[in-house]
Amino acid sequence: MSLHPQKIIIDTDPGQDDGVAILLALASPELDILALTTVAGNVPLALTQRNARMICELAKRTDMKVFAGSDKPLKKPLVTAENVHGKTGLDGIELPEPTMPLQEQHAVDFLIETFRSAPEKSITLCTLGPMTNIAHALIQAPDIASRIKNIVLMGGGFFEGGNITPSAEFNMFVDPDAAKVVFSAGIDLTVIPLDVTHKAMTNAQWIKDLRGMHTSVGEAVAAWTDFFERYDKEKYGSEGAPLHDPCVIGYLLRPDLFSGRHINVEIEADSSLTAGATVADWWGVTDRKANAYYLNHIDRDGFFELLTERLGRHA
Ligand code: BDR
Ligand code: CA
Repeated sequence: MSLHPQKIIIDTDPGQDDGVAILLALASPELDILALTTVAGNVPLALTQRNARMICELAKRTDMKVFAGSDKPLKKPLVTAENVHGKTGLDGIELPEPTMPLQEQHAVDFLIETFRSAPEKSITLCTLGPMTNIAHALIQAPDIASRIKNIVLMGGGFFEGGNITPSAEFNMFVDPDAAKVVFSAGIDLTVIPLDVTHKAMTNAQWIKDLRGMHTSVGEAVAAWTDFFERYDKEKYGSEGAPLHDPCVIGYLLRPDLFSGRHINVEIEADSSLTAGATVADWWGVTDRKANAYYLNHIDRDGFFELLTERLGRHA
């Protein structure tokens, strides 16, 4: 553990790329992970909370606290992504059923209690899935907004458009009402959209390097990547697939690898055609106040170097 590790909570819907993000965080002494809170997204909640515990067990971190949270979006019916992530959400390799406990407390209650009791602005929230849990927490306890240090989130897209509809990225599309609550709460936000993650593409050499580690983590990440790549390669005609969620943790560890602008971002929640669109005023054509640090650039090679080195720290 480094001298003053950043305290973080990871809110997640694993998902293979969520899994890689969690493994990256668990291997990084600069971060003090207080808990994993889980949400329905890539697959239903019963699977995301199970998958989060499986990932902790893969990393031999059975001490990690895992909470289950919202099983559906604020207003819309749940949309899942088994077409990308497989039936379990972690298809690609068979991992043992987890035996470590799930915490009894609801994730939303945990978030409220933790942000209320910790020193003001001492904890960063990382969201890697639909933002339903933190939206519920903000609705029930608006006082926590000023206590959250910042939220670093994977979601949205402006230059790249969407990945589940032409205009919406998956996490935003699943719960645009939750995203709207978060984007209007006055919290310091860092947005890692498809504009960044579509530049963080895997390739065959990376998978080879992972297998060359001869560790269970290296093998699992290689097998997950092999699995979810098939969908993106076909869709984008690319050599590999974007590693979305690990970019959030990469940003916490090496913000110098990323750049963007402080701009206004609004969420479309009502239109059936563009629900979940992140309306990013990149060019400053409105007088709407900046409410987010919106990233659009990543040093891809620097990021993969960091990721490979950290994943190699797992036994
Ligand atoms: C996001 O959606 C999920 O499929 C991934 O885990 C990532 O969080 C990318 O649009
Ligand atoms: Ca995710």
